[in-house]
Amino acid sequence: MTRLSVAFFGSAVAYALIGMVMGVWMGASGDHTLSPVHAHINLLGWASLALMGAFYGLAGDLAPRRLAWVNFFVSNVGNLISLPLLALLLLGDRSVLPVMAVGEALMVAGMGVFAVAIVIVARKAPSTAL
Ligand code: HEM
Repeated sequence: MTRLSVAFFGSAVAYALIGMVMGVWMGASGDHTLSPVHAHINLLGWASLALMGAFYGLAGDLAPRRLAWVNFFVSNVGNLISLPLLALLLLGDRSVLPVMAVGEALMVAGMGVFAVAIVIVARKAPSTAL
C-alpha cells in the first residue's frame, strides 16, 4: 500500500464519518434540509476518493504519482470549498454562489485529472495483461 492510497483512503474515511454523523443527526432531528450536503459528502468525499485510492493502489508502479497527488489536492480542496458552501446555500445564503462555483470547478478538475491518470495507466499497462 502506497502513501498515496493511504492519503486517499484516509481523507475518504474522514468524509464518511462526517457524512454518517450528519445522516444520524438528520434522522434523529427529522430536519432533512441539508440532505443534499450529506449525500454529496458521502458520494464526492467517501465514495469518489475511496475509489480513486483503490485505483491508484491497484495501478501500483504504473500510477503517475505527481499527477495523482494533484488529483488528491484538487479534489479535496474542491470538496472543502463546495460542501460547506452548499450547506449555506441551502440555508438561504445565495451570496456564496461565486465562491462555490470555484469549488465546483475544482471538483470537476479533480475528476478530469483522474481521467487523465487512468489513460496514462492504460497506456503503460502491458498489452498482454487481461
Ligand atoms: C450512518 C449512515 C447514514 C445515515 C444515518 C443516513 C441517513 C440519511 C437521511 C436521514 C437522509 C434523508 C432522507 C430524506 O430526506 O428523505 C439521507 C439521504 C441520502 N443519503 Fe444517507 N445516510 C447514511 C449514509 C449514507 C451513505 C454512506 C451514502 C452514500 C455513499 C448516503 C447517500 C444518501 C443520498 C444519496 C441521500 C439522498 C439525498 C437527497 O435526496 O437530497 N447516505 N441519508
